[in-house]
Amino acid sequence: MLVLVTKSASEGALKAFDIFKESLSQGDKVFGLATGGTPEELYEMIRESDLDFSNAYSVNLDEYCGLEPNNPHSYHYYMQEKLFKVKPFKESFIPDGVIDEQVAIEAYESILKEYPVDLQLLGLGRNAHIGFNEPGTPFTQRTHKVALTHSTIESNQQYFKESFVPTHAISMGLQSIMDAKKIVLLAFGESKAEAVQLMIESEPSVDVPASILQLHNDVTIIVDEKAASLLTK
Ligand code: F6R
Repeated sequence: MLVLVTKSASEGALKAFDIFKESLSQGDKVFGLATGGTPEELYEMIRESDLDFSNAYSVNLDEYCGLEPNNPHSYHYYMQEKLFKVKPFKESFIPDGVIDEQVAIEAYESILKEYPVDLQLLGLGRNAHIGFNEPGTPFTQRTHKVALTHSTIESNQQYFKESFVPTHAISMGLQSIMDAKKIVLLAFGESKAEAVQLMIESEPSVDVPASILQLHNDVTIIVDEKAASLLTK
């Protein structure tokens, strides 16, 4: 695990941008993408850059159940707005949160088989979830339907404001994430400090989903000073 501590979130986003740029220039074709607040600045940098993903594929980590792609709170919509409108990929895949869940799960697993991820981008939940793999998720889990925890629902409230906050999602599993050749995880701000410390310094355990990353051979963790504040080593 390579851990990079940056002065600010912007500096961290720039480091991640450089990793994407290098990966693209090395001929990588499949990019695993995340949503949420954390990658927004990175996506802005990509939008404003000359990087060209039109010959590459993207696979997203997750989608809420029950939200149509044109719902402004869906991750389909988020990706269109934050990236795809300006930087289209040859093809982009996001789990389908509307169709029968078993069909959606099987379809996504076959997509992941057909398009193995070269570089996977991750954010980190305050409870150390990655994707929507909440504490207790087995390390062997593949794409699945998830009941979101109270803390995740509460944290999502900031984005949903007055409207209904979904309680379930379809998410790539921890094993599906670990299949990526390279992984880069971003975590910024004080609210992530405890999760960062546990992810890096605790024994790998299902109680800390992101601790599974210690078992991957090509992971870069990029944290700002606030998110790194509880690290002891
Ligand atoms: C999003 C995802 C989640 C987020 C995590 C952090 O696709 O899979 O794991 O990365 O909840 O969210 P933010 O970045 O909003 O703090």
